[in-house]
Amino acid sequence: MDRPRITIFDTTLRDGEQSPGCSMNVQEKLRLAQQLDRLGVDVIEAGFPIASDGDFEAVQSIAASLRRPIIAGLARACTGDVDRAWQALQGAARPRVHVFLATSDIHLKYKLRITREKCLEQARDAVRHAKSLCPDVEFSPEDATRTDVAFLCQVVEAAIAAGATTVNIPDTVGYSMPEEYGNLIRTLQERVAGIDKVTISTHCHNDLGLAVANSLAGVQAGARQVECAINGIGERAGNASLEEIVMAMRVRPDRYPYETAIAGEHLYPSSQMLAEITRVPVQPNKAIIGRNAFAHEAGIHQDGMLKNPLTYEIMTPQSVGVPDSRLVLGKHSGRHALALRCEQLGHQFERRELDEIYRRFVVLADRIKKVQDSHLLELIQDVASGNVSSSDVTGSKGKKFPPAAATLQFPRAVSAAAGANASDSHPAQVSGSAGQASVSIPFTDHHSEQEDYLWGV
Ligand code: KIV
Ligand code: ZN
Repeated sequence: MDRPRITIFDTTLRDGEQSPGCSMNVQEKLRLAQQLDRLGVDVIEAGFPIASDGDFEAVQSIAASLRRPIIAGLARACTGDVDRAWQALQGAARPRVHVFLATSDIHLKYKLRITREKCLEQARDAVRHAKSLCPDVEFSPEDATRTDVAFLCQVVEAAIAAGATTVNIPDTVGYSMPEEYGNLIRTLQERVAGIDKVTISTHCHNDLGLAVANSLAGVQAGARQVECAINGIGERAGNASLEEIVMAMRVRPDRYPYETAIAGEHLYPSSQMLAEITRVPVQPNKAIIGRNAFAHEAGIHQDGMLKNPLTYEIMTPQSVGVPDSRLVLGKHSGRHALALRCEQLGHQFERRELDEIYRRFVVLADRIKKVQDSHLLELIQDVASGNVSSSDVTGSKGKKFPPAAATLQFPRAVSAAAGANASDSHPAQVSGSAGQASVSIPFTDHHSEQEDYLWGV
């Protein structure tokens, strides 16, 4: 049976760009939008055209240059905003006007200073106006999860009657819990007339670290569009992370039997491009695309990985576009990983020699955290020449420790690099990128295509 298709609505260029330090100029936004197109997102929210001339121009140029995805422009629930958004979207093959208005009593009382009656009327009028210009209209009741449920149902029903084709339910302040958010989506489906004719969307913020969990709960409850951002960027703690949502569905279709059109191999390049443009780095342990997401340092883990990557990886790095797993040589590394690295550097040792190398390696690793090839080669030379151990003293002056870490490639990725390195006396120097050495070794590939998503297929 066909799995329901989930529309991926990317708001990196709008909500994401609103996060501190993440602003982008028009050229940068266009470049990222082209990458989002390659990634396969269904909807690109390109900006908030009334907010600034730069935002207007960005929406305009993205709308004019991308033909496949829907291009959305954000507007507050008033004529001026809607007109400006529509103007920016003129060149779009598939335009969408996204109208929002806060509905919670907190926002009505303190921010907008309007009554519920006025809010209802404003939402209805703005959606009706947007619909008179554009067939594809999305409506978002901002702060929906803190809105009185009966009133929320009333506003959503009015927006649908006025022509909204997508209703988005924002957890604007990241307050909701997954079960609660799922129940809210269910309640709307039960109580709102006409909701079966429109797409229900999730838009969850990450203030309690639950944006992805809430979005998935929303999908399980019947939402068919997810709003999210690359690297999870967005206001405050961010939006639901696109890569986490997509890969949760892909790795666990037993729990989330849904399809997206995302090309997994473009996830990591998209993340890298965003980090490069904004100069906001990705936290190393970020799921899916963080630099440690496929790194293994503990000896037991390294040993398992060398025997079969399925032991500690639930998806392949390649399935998300990460070049390969990184096996970092540090103080938790075991003899097995060290021996393999030595072998890759052209040195094979008897048990007793390896014991000595390992003893010195542990001392060194304890001091410098990540042991690089150059350190290891020096250490090997010391042992071979019977030196007391320069590795034991190296580091005190700090001059011998360049920044890159030694890395090992796991079995599956070896074949591609093998030819290039075969005749080189220091293979580690040949195929490395960005200071990270990668060396070929003749292992077989343990991952079959079917095993790409361990539990998933
Ligand atoms: O978080 C939010 O409520 C929003 C709306 C504009 C959709 O970003
Ligand atoms: Zn938001």
